[in-house]
Order: sequence, then structure tokens, then C-alpha cells
Amino acid sequence: MSNLSDMSKPLAPIDLHNADTFANGIPQYGFAAMRDQPTLSWSEADERGDAGFWSVTRFDDLVTVSRDTETFSSAVGHIQIYDIDPDALDARASMIDLDPPVHTRLRRLVSAAFTPRHVQGYADAARHRVARCLDQLEGDGGGDWVDTVAAPIPIGVICDLMGVPEADHDYMIELSDHLVAGTSNEPLEPSAYGNTTDLRLLPFNSPAAHGMAEYARQLGEKRRAAPTDDLVSRLVEAEVDGERLTDDEFTNFFRLMIFAGNETTRSSMAHLGLQLQQFPEAFAAANADRTLVGPLADEVIRYSSPILYFRRTVTKPTELSGTELAPGDKVVMWYAAANFDATTFDDPLAFRTDRPAVPMHAAFGGGGAHFCLGASLARLEISILIEEILDRRLDLDVGSPVFVESNFVNGIEALPVTVR
Ligand code: HEM
Repeated sequence: MSNLSDMSKPLAPIDLHNADTFANGIPQYGFAAMRDQPTLSWSEADERGDAGFWSVTRFDDLVTVSRDTETFSSAVGHIQIYDIDPDALDARASMIDLDPPVHTRLRRLVSAAFTPRHVQGYADAARHRVARCLDQLEGDGGGDWVDTVAAPIPIGVICDLMGVPEADHDYMIELSDHLVAGTSNEPLEPSAYGNTTDLRLLPFNSPAAHGMAEYARQLGEKRRAAPTDDLVSRLVEAEVDGERLTDDEFTNFFRLMIFAGNETTRSSMAHLGLQLQQFPEAFAAANADRTLVGPLADEVIRYSSPILYFRRTVTKPTELSGTELAPGDKVVMWYAAANFDATTFDDPLAFRTDRPAVPMHAAFGGGGAHFCLGASLARLEISILIEEILDRRLDLDVGSPVFVESNFVNGIEALPVTVR
């Protein structure tokens, strides 16, 4: 562990272990105080036994950690704030929890489907989904923005890519919601979804992870018998170093793709509903000049920072922002803090369409091996949603959001809207 005594560590001024800290969204004041500390900020182990950790809140530090997978490992310890046993780490591992070169080999299986050029091929289908959701909202005169718009679009798009039939999309949303519930303070029913696996072996300690694995197994069997051009067919046929993926590797892959493709984009789209009301000038500017739709989509994503953090484990002695780090130390990258770093983003709390493209915000990560695989897809979906909103001149009266209770995702559970 670090050679500083605990007493001398500059403490984080907010309780980052606790989902309540994020009950109203990103804790801007707490993160600002942490960015102002010259070193990294320390959070003590909490009473549930979650390890103590160093927080990275400045943009440049986050880029350093993200790009150095040798020093800051995703595989050595868990990438979420709480520790899990080595057998649980093994059982859950998907590419996001692995380091190169294993990570690289797995990522290569799917990366071609997510290049900016390739994702353009999904644009028509995504637009069709967006239009259907907005038709329904307008037809109903309003409703819950999350249920009607933000939730169905991303799950629809990622399920199309994976080959999950339309009839099962709601089930995927339900399972994904239950996974996030694993990051709340609420206890989960261990036997839900027919689960018999020890919860500590499941992602997010959630029985829904079992439900999703079972679903993946059945779909995988169908595709093995009759392959199509979807990603599940590709994964069940794929070979890494001459060997097929094991059952667990395949189901973990499936879970990662559904969760990552769904939950994050959905959060940004949910926040977009709020931002329409909070920042009408930005949307008006993009309406007047459609070349601003792309930058606006990125601002929606920066401002919502759907993934609050990922954690890394230090593998060798190093130093970051004046903090000595030792092997085994835990370092948590707060994307939601780096995205409001005034040394990188001019007037960071302003919502603007004229931010430079470089450096890119940190919502998709700080670059390097794990940089979000679905960044181009998320941008495409959000840009299409913005375009369709502008084309329809959708004018909404937006109510108060109910935030997801989690210290891992910056989600919105419900957002009532009325069409004016
Ligand atoms: C606004 C939407 C999204 C946000 C904010 C987001 C955010 C992130 C972040 C922060 C990471 C970790 C980056 C790192 O450790 O350096 C990540 C990784 C990942 N994302 Fe996304 N994501 C989004 C959309 C998507 C979509 C649509 C997909 C579709 C499949 C996706 C798939 C993945 C995968 C597979 C990884 C793991 C990559 C790896 O470990 O190599 N994401 N994402």
C-alpha cells in the first residue's frame, strides 16, 4: 500500500462509496474541491469493507491512468469500487476487466462492427426507432421521457446488432435495470430470474446477470445451429488463438455489450430531455446550423457523463500528481469530475456547441486500450435523436427528474414531459 500514513492523506471531502452522494446527479462542488487539491484525494475503506482508494479528478491525470494499462491494471483487481474475491473476478471477466494482450484479442472480435464508417450503416434503422418513439410521445401528448424515448432507442439499436429479437427488448431493459440496482444501497433478491449462483460471483452482485447469461446461452445455441449476420453469430463462431470462446467468455461478452450499449446511451438521452429545457439556446443554435448537431451530441454526453467512474489497480511503484502510489493501491478515475475540469474545458458548467473537438471529453474514457468501443455508435444515436427533435420542432414542458440511485452511473429513472 501507499507509503503515506492514512493521517497525512488529503481526504476526499465527499463520501464516494455512498450512492446517496449522487442522489441529485454529479456532486459538482465536491469534485471541484478534489480537483483543487494538488495531489490525488483519498477515500478511506468504508464500513462494508470496500477498499480505500485514490481519486483521480483532473482531466490530465485521468488520461495518464487510462493510457497506461501496465501500471494501472483492469485485470489485477475489480474495476468497480468494491473488492471481490479472485474466483469472482475470474467468473465475471469480460474484455473491460482484462489487460492487453488478452484484452486486445477479445476486442478484435467485435471492433470492426463499431468503426465510425461501419456504424453509419446502422443509421437508417436507428432513425426509424427514434421516429417511432417520438411519434408515440407526440401522440400521447407527453409521458415519461425515459420510458418512451431514452430507454427503448439504445436497447433497440444494440439488440439489433447482437441479434436479439424485438420481442425480447423489454426483457433486456428489465435485466439491465436490475444490474444497475446492484450499485444502489438496496439489497437484491438472490433467487430472482431463477438464479442459483452465489451473488458475489455475478457482475454487480445481481441475479439479473444470471438471467442475462441464461438468455445469451439460449440465443447462442440458436445461432450456432443457424448463423446469421449478427454479433452473437460472430461470437459463437469466433476463435481466439485457435480456440472458440468458452461458454462463460461468450455470456460475459454478451452481458457487457448489452449493458454497455444500453445503459450509457440511455442515460445521455435521458439527460438530453432535461437539457432541452435547461439549455434551449444550444439546441436553437444547432437548429440554425446543423453542422453543430455533432458537437451538441458530444456536449450532451460530456454534461451527462453517464459512467461516473472506473477503478484501476496499481501494479508497480509510480507517482501521479505528487502522490506516491504502490502496487496494490486502488485508483478511481472519476470521468464525471474530469469532464468539468476548468483547465481543460473553458467555463465547464456552461453547455456549449462550440467546444473544440480535441481534447475530447472524458465520458468515453481517457483514451487507450479500453476507450469506449461504442463511442461512434452512441454519437450517431444521440445525433439522430437531436435531428429528429429539431425537425419536429418538439416543444416540451419538462418536469422534475428522478435520478437512479447509484455511485456508478449518472442515470435518470423517470422524467415526466408534456408536449406543448
Ligand atoms: C454515451 C454513451 C456511452 C458512454 C458514456 C460510454 C462510456 C464508456 C466508458 C467510460 C468506458 C470505459 C473506458 C475506459 O476504461 O477507458 C466504456 C467502455 C466500453 N463501452 Fe462504452 N459508453 C457509451 C456507449 C457505448 C455503446 C453504445 C456501446 C456499444 C456496444 C459501448 C460499449 C463499450 C464497451 C464494449 C466497452 C469496453 C471496451 C474495452 O474494455 O475495450 N459503449 N464506455
